[in-house]
Amino acid sequence: MACSSAPADLLSDLANFVLEVKFLYDFSNVRVMAEQRLDKMPKEWRELLHSRRPREILEALEGKQPMDGPGDFFARRNALLDRIAHLLVPPPASPAEALPRRTWKGMSPKKVQEVEALASLVHRVCSDSGTSAVVDAGCGLAHLERALDPSLRVLAVEANAGHCSGAARRLAGSGVCQTKVFHDVFDVEEEALPLKVSESLGPEKVVLVGLHCCGDLAPTLLRVLAKDSRLAAAVLVPCCYHRTKSQSNIVMSDKGREVMCNDGEVPFSYPALRLACQEPLETWMDMSDEELHERARFQGFRAVLEDFCQSQELTLTKRKRRCVRKSGVQSPEVYAEEVLEAYEFRTEEGGGQSCEECDFKRKLSNALQSQVDRGFLEVLLNLTILQLSLQRLLEYVIILDRCLFASENKLSVQLFELFEAKVSPRNKVVVCSRD
Ligand SMILES: C[S@@+](CC[C@H](N)C(=O)[O-])C[C@H]1O[C@@H](n2cnc3c(N)ncnc32)[C@H](O)[C@@H]1O
Repeated sequence: MACSSAPADLLSDLANFVLEVKFLYDFSNVRVMAEQRLDKMPKEWRELLHSRRPREILEALEGKQPMDGPGDFFARRNALLDRIAHLLVPPPASPAEALPRRTWKGMSPKKVQEVEALASLVHRVCSDSGTSAVVDAGCGLAHLERALDPSLRVLAVEANAGHCSGAARRLAGSGVCQTKVFHDVFDVEEEALPLKVSESLGPEKVVLVGLHCCGDLAPTLLRVLAKDSRLAAAVLVPCCYHRTKSQSNIVMSDKGREVMCNDGEVPFSYPALRLACQEPLETWMDMSDEELHERARFQGFRAVLEDFCQSQELTLTKRKRRCVRKSGVQSPEVYAEEVLEAYEFRTEEGGGQSCEECDFKRKLSNALQSQVDRGFLEVLLNLTILQLSLQRLLEYVIILDRCLFASENKLSVQLFELFEAKVSPRNKVVVCSRD
């Protein structure tokens, strides 16, 4: 990605587009009925949601059949996706000499694909920067360390002590050279990282790496790179944008603030950031109609349950980690039965509710059936598809803003998608380097 005006213009157009249709996604789908979100949408959107079949909308989004969406939605969205595709550079080819093969015991095929591709990219960035020192920030179970070139000196840090001890065990049994890889429990913060880096790796220039660095971690690494000239580059694969705590890390660049933050307010709330890191729409395009409708029942029944409890002045508390099983959505009756096992109910006054007393099961399954008959599940499925159609655009608003922050701080930036999206959807890599 060149540091021209193209990313800035694209950021501005993407942001304006997604903010124009904020009413489609700026809430939790569980609360869609309880908060009457569908009724509050503009009329032409309500008509679209009620009149089309989910497959038709999917095909319009794929560009297979034209559809007149409100405000030319489909054509504008697809044109923006084309502009994103033009901005990306192809991922660099793997080095001619393959990195040494390791045993990948305990690693999923997804993780193997990720660490192999990233290790070879890190190797290249280190060569280009003339350094062999790397910091892996938020290393988790230190999977990446098993794939990195053995010539590199690595400081792998992780805030979660439990992960760290798991990582230490795995590293010890993996044949990774223990004098080259230092491993420590450490919470990466802007002020503390430079000292930690010099203590562990000495005066050599350093490349920062973060594989799936969630929330504030990727922005923090970018800020440290921008400030500390001893750091040569950063190779960042961000994820979990909704875990970002600091507002200044959601929109980082001057340009981003100029185009998005009226009165200094960051316009993306939790549901928008959550949507930005959902699975891509392509996953849904491959689903059969039956699979789509199963998803619709799962989501739709949960939304009806929420609304039902609100109308009965009941609060729900999960009993188990996973609420209702997949098989529980086969019919309203089975769902109502499962709900009683999965949740505890309390009245507003705090007393536990006797479900026989209030005839809970019968009333809930009637409420569910009535929404099935009114076509609510299909409408919610249409809405979910439209929300997911914005996922990639929202993610690129965040990513391009970070690229612009790097450019504004005189760093050169490359942006590409390193892993296969269907295997690993958080596949966007931002490589920032000091010239
Ligand atoms: C999604 S996991 C990825 C782990 C690993 N990089 C991988 O790809 O397998 C993100 C990790 O970053 C760690 N983390 C998040 N913020 C951190 C911080 N400020 N300092 C150190 N570790 C952090 C989390 O504890 C978590 O283990």
